[in-house]
Formats: sequence, C-alpha cells, structure tokens
Amino acid sequence: MSPLSFTAALLRWFAQYGRELPWRGIDDPYGIWVSEVILQQTRIDQGRDYWLRFMERFPTVEALAAASEDEVLRLWQGLGYYSRARNMHAAARQIVEAGGFPRTIQGLRALKGVGDYTAAAVGSMAFNLPAAAVDGNVYRVLARHYGIDVPINTTHGKHTFESLATELLPPGQASAFNQAMMDFGATWCTPRSPRCIDCPVAGTCDALHTGRIHLLPVKERKLKVKERHFAYIYIRYKGKTALRRRPAGDIWQGLWEPLFVEDAPLPDLGCPLTLLASGVKHVLTHRVLLADFYLAEPQALPALPEGYIWVEEPALPDYALPRLVERMLDLLPQG
Ligand code: ADE
Repeated sequence: MSPLSFTAALLRWFAQYGRELPWRGIDDPYGIWVSEVILQQTRIDQGRDYWLRFMERFPTVEALAAASEDEVLRLWQGLGYYSRARNMHAAARQIVEAGGFPRTIQGLRALKGVGDYTAAAVGSMAFNLPAAAVDGNVYRVLARHYGIDVPINTTHGKHTFESLATELLPPGQASAFNQAMMDFGATWCTPRSPRCIDCPVAGTCDALHTGRIHLLPVKERKLKVKERHFAYIYIRYKGKTALRRRPAGDIWQGLWEPLFVEDAPLPDLGCPLTLLASGVKHVLTHRVLLADFYLAEPQALPALPEGYIWVEEPALPDYALPRLVERMLDLLPQG
C-alpha cells in the first residue's frame, strides 16, 4: 500500500470510529497538554476523570502556575508517576514567565517533562504542526502493518518508527492522523486480540500475511526489574500520626508517608507492632516494591527520627500520599 492510501484509510476509519474524548475538538494548548501528560501512563477511562477535575481546578496555565506544588500533587493522587505532575507544574511556570505557550516543536520540547512524543502530540493537535506523535499504539500499528522487527525500545527503533510515521503524515492533517493512529492502535490493532477481520488496512498488513501479528512489535529484553523492600509503621498516638515528606533523589519525592524503614531493623517505639499486611506488591516502571505494614499504638509519646511531624488523623486527606500508603490506610482499624 502506498503511504497515501494507508494514511487515507486510517483517516477514513477515524472519521467513523474515533473516540469521543473531552479534550478532542478543543484548541486550547493547555488543555491538550494536560491530557497528554495524564495519558502518558494512565488508561483513558481513568485519565478522563482526572482531566475533568484537573481542568476544573486549574482551568488555565496561569492558574496551574499560581498553585502550590502540594495542591497539584494532591489532585494527582492515585495517578502515580508523580514527577509528571511536578514537571508539569514547573513547566506551567516556564510558560507563564515566557508570556505564553511555545508554538514550535523545539519550544515545546524545551518545557520541563516534555519529550518528543508530547511535543509532537501538543504541537500537532494545538497548532497543527506537521509532527508525528509516536506512542506505544503507533509503534504496534506500524510494526505490524509494515512488518518491522526492529526493537521499539532502542534508539534505532525510535528513529525507524519516527521517520516512517513522519513520511505517512498527511499535509495539514497531522492532528487527525496522530489521533487516528492512537485510537486505531487502542481499539482495533490491540496487543492481544486485534480485529484483523474488519481491519481497513488488512489487505496490505505485512504481519497478517506472514503470520506475525503476535510477534510484532519486538521489544528488546531489558534487565529484570529490581525489588525493594519497604516497611511502613503507622503510629497512632492520641489521635495523631507521624508523617514525613519523602526526600529528593528517590521515588515519590514531595509526597508524604508514615514511619518508613528500608533494609533496616524496625525501630523500638516502646510498644508491640501489629502486622497489618506483609509482602504487599506495588509495581513501578523500574522497580517492584514489597511492603510490610505495621500499626504501633504507644502509650507514651515516642521519639521520632528526624524529619517526621505529628498530624491529626482527620487531616490526613490534606496530604498527598503515594498509592501504596493509601492501600495501607485502607487496612487500618478504626482509631
Ligand atoms: N493517548 C494519548 N493521547 C491521546 C489522544 N489524543 N487520543 C487518543 N489516545 C491518546
């Protein structure tokens, strides 16, 4: 299939089957950018609600720039990958300082947390710039249709797929094409059960004709993700509990947590510790966390390591907590 007919078929497919999403059809670069940052690591169904809430609380880039990092993190709570929120907040301040949204790929790319994908997505959808936004869906569609077995998680793979996607861009319609590719990958050319039967480009799909649908795309095996072993102790003393803010240089920077122990003996708080759960698994991109949760109910005020503060238990919702800690709170007996 010539590039033009693949592109034309996908655009036609999109006009009929493209998903209705609350940020589609807006041309506000801020709203589009927020949607892209949320969707980087979040499924559409969950992302939609977060986007609506985020836009209600911070309707403009100025509103986001004026907010405190704490409030931004609180609104982000549960989405994970909190550096996304911190970077977006910093970038909002960059934008306001510069007097407006950058309108070039290079300018977008210079914003904190904005990589090639996000710059191309926002640039094409907000400013109609001719840039191909290549996400996981696009890799899969192209790898299958063109029978490309270059591993997608290598520099060579990234270049290969980006150049092909760029060649396929229809003049003046980068926005529709990028979104068509993403939707097509997400709803038709899915990882496990693609709808080849009624695929609009099945006739020219290399993977279909060579029996490689489930072999493409190819990913190079990376080192096994490392495990970390955490213990959290929730201290309950006269209606208060102890929290600290996680320090820089590690996961969840800026979020709050109960008494934290990693690869060290549990501290003596002058009372027995009740085990609430052990080996609770929490999967991050490059790590698997295994956590033990304890409750301590001392009779006398225990000494705390440096950095912890006492917080009234009813005020806990005011603190941005990692999802793992929320899971722990769900296990606590009523105080
Ligand atoms: N995933 C990330 N951004 C998207 C968009 N604009 N449309 C569909 N899926 C997406």
